[in-house]
Amino acid sequence: MDTLTSNKTYTEQDTFPINGTDYIEFYVGNAKQAAHYYQSAFGFRIVAYRGPETGARETASYVLQQGKVRFVLTSALYPDHEVSRHVLQHGDGVKVLALWVDNAADAYNKAVERGARPFKAPETMKDEYGEVTIASIHTYGETLHTFVERKHYEGAFLPGFQARESLMEIQPIGLKYVDHCVGNVELGMMNKWVEFYQDVMGFKLLVTFDDKDISTEYTALMSKVVSNGNGFIKFPINEPAQGKKKSQIEEYLDYYHGAGVQHIALATDDIIFTVDELRRRGVEFLYVPEAYYDTVLERVGEIKEELEELKRLNILIDRDEEGYLLQIFTKPVQDRPTVFYEIIQREGARSFGKGNFKALFEAIEREQERRGTL
Ligand code: FE2
Repeated sequence: MDTLTSNKTYTEQDTFPINGTDYIEFYVGNAKQAAHYYQSAFGFRIVAYRGPETGARETASYVLQQGKVRFVLTSALYPDHEVSRHVLQHGDGVKVLALWVDNAADAYNKAVERGARPFKAPETMKDEYGEVTIASIHTYGETLHTFVERKHYEGAFLPGFQARESLMEIQPIGLKYVDHCVGNVELGMMNKWVEFYQDVMGFKLLVTFDDKDISTEYTALMSKVVSNGNGFIKFPINEPAQGKKKSQIEEYLDYYHGAGVQHIALATDDIIFTVDELRRRGVEFLYVPEAYYDTVLERVGEIKEELEELKRLNILIDRDEEGYLLQIFTKPVQDRPTVFYEIIQREGARSFGKGNFKALFEAIEREQERRGTL
């Protein structure tokens, strides 16, 4: 089986409770235009804004929401700014994976006590809608975890932000919540970060994939998945493994200039509708050859969706002991081959689509070939 037991003993109990993903913040070159993409293509609605018009002198941030998924897109207004420097280095990418907690100061103090590298000590911000306490620690690369305590807050997002609505008609595509966020880390660093989540956050190791699970003729990678106690937070961590050619993880690390978030999996209850809409709106997906569908039902058994529909949309299928799942991966959503999305519909399955790895990685290699980076 996939699950290996670590020889180190861990408490495997949350250091502090986490209620879910609070938001994901991207540092981007042009937040105004990125916000349009997430509205028009992904069906997110603008709910809040902070920028020069609201008294922020250095940055502009757009908060977008669909279901429980909340994205913040931030750009700097000056070259000599941390956000500009981040974008220069990494391109558009994920800066913050924010975690919704009951007590941000407690979460921060416990994490730092257990070895987390502090980024920002707890700070309570207030406006007429109440108060929010936030605190941040470092994780892999230049990525941060921000703890957000908002139990006394009724405003649109955070103090300092103003409620704002989209200026265009929004057609949501059925995105419900963040299923998991995957990090790519440098060769040899996967275990260090898995131990960080175990030791500092009290997460448990859910599953291990080695290069025998995830390899093609050319490339390979290793992956371990950690999760918090209630399972709402799942972080697979990938590192490159030796292959004949450059692995997709190395390609990411080269273009991102270090470790960072590789993909965000967004859950839907109706993947056929979601993917149909995304395709209609011009979002590009990885292509898996039609031959995949000739034998897939022998592998996964009965499913309630029409196979022809899944084939038309190029949606992949996998099954584990608990049920099945449907998934598909976009191409990178910026010019650097870095961050992309997974759309996932779970019908009982709690795994990550291991049965599709080979077909997927071959699809990624075809894209690498086209970019001249294989
Ligand atoms: Fe995934």
